[in-house]
Amino acid sequence: MTKPRREKILVVDDDRDMVELLTLTLTQEGYSCESAQSGQEALLHLNKNGDKPFALVLTDLLMPLMDGIELMENIQETHPEIGVLVISADTNLTLAVEAMRKGALDFITKPFRNELILPRIQKALERVHLELENREYQLYLEEKVENRTAALLSKHRSLQKLYFNTVEAIVRAIEAKDPYTVGHSKRVSKYCTRIAEKMKLGEADVQDVMIAGLLHDVGKIGISDAVLTKTSRLSIEEYELIKEHPLISLKIIEPIHELKKAKEYVKYHHEKWDGTGYPDGLKGEAIPLGARILSVADAFDTMWIGRHYHEAWDMDTVIGEFRKNSGTQFDKTVVDAFNHLIVDERAAFDRIREDNPPQFSVAPPFKNPLKI
Ligand SMILES: [Fe+2]
Ligand SMILES: [Fe+2]
Repeated sequence: MTKPRREKILVVDDDRDMVELLTLTLTQEGYSCESAQSGQEALLHLNKNGDKPFALVLTDLLMPLMDGIELMENIQETHPEIGVLVISADTNLTLAVEAMRKGALDFITKPFRNELILPRIQKALERVHLELENREYQLYLEEKVENRTAALLSKHRSLQKLYFNTVEAIVRAIEAKDPYTVGHSKRVSKYCTRIAEKMKLGEADVQDVMIAGLLHDVGKIGISDAVLTKTSRLSIEEYELIKEHPLISLKIIEPIHELKKAKEYVKYHHEKWDGTGYPDGLKGEAIPLGARILSVADAFDTMWIGRHYHEAWDMDTVIGEFRKNSGTQFDKTVVDAFNHLIVDERAAFDRIREDNPPQFSVAPPFKNPLKI
């Protein structure tokens, strides 16, 4: 009486007697068995597969047209889950070793005795099951990692959105208080981004400078309206009050941990290369690069679009002013990068001016807008 077994095995040999012998032996042991007399026929069987998948292929090595090794390579490519065990005459040992090297589970030499072959087949099947389990577990782990990564990515995106919305809300607060700065922060942020990209800063650094551009003047929210929107000349005391805005900005954005570098840039955006700026009088490269970029972008917007305290200038005057103050007020390398940007993207700067008509409406109280 045959024992009920689970695995389905394909026997491949061009020797009909050998096929019959093996099929009979395996069937008597309870395996579900099919046979083929060539490599091509074997592939047809495997592709058909039927209601139960094959677990193992027992193949002869020397067969016409497609030998056992070629058949095994085909199986590895199209059905990697199926194990291959080779049967070889003891005169073909070199070939059998090559088959093992290429991934055969075992090789059995002909002639063989049933009591010896059956445990080897059972062992080969155990390896097939083990490899299948491993593959399934790996797939399970990969799926788990993929899901977790997707969840983290989505969380990161929503946090980043929250972060940008927070920045936007702060910017709107200052714009609501001082109508003259409407759009200023966004434009400065754009110039900052383009200068930073022109200077080939890394992606994270470009983002820090972009954020700093948006937030650099939020401290003006803490300056009284009378001083902030005054159209006549400021007194020394009033000017001293205005000079507090970088530190007030810093205080406002202090709790936002993510703004680590941007905070520095905001704090130092009125420092000057020669050390005559504020709040700390930093000099040269002691001023963070992002703050040096912000300083050029900020001054450009004031000159190009104009403010309530001075008129807008034409581009030649703006470029001339930068040239004059390069190496004293501004970092020369930043000014050079910005000059290249103006040449390369002049049309975009003209469009910005068209979209933001100059705001100046009273006699300019200052000869030089860079003095504030
Ligand atoms: Fe400022
Ligand atoms: Fe500004």
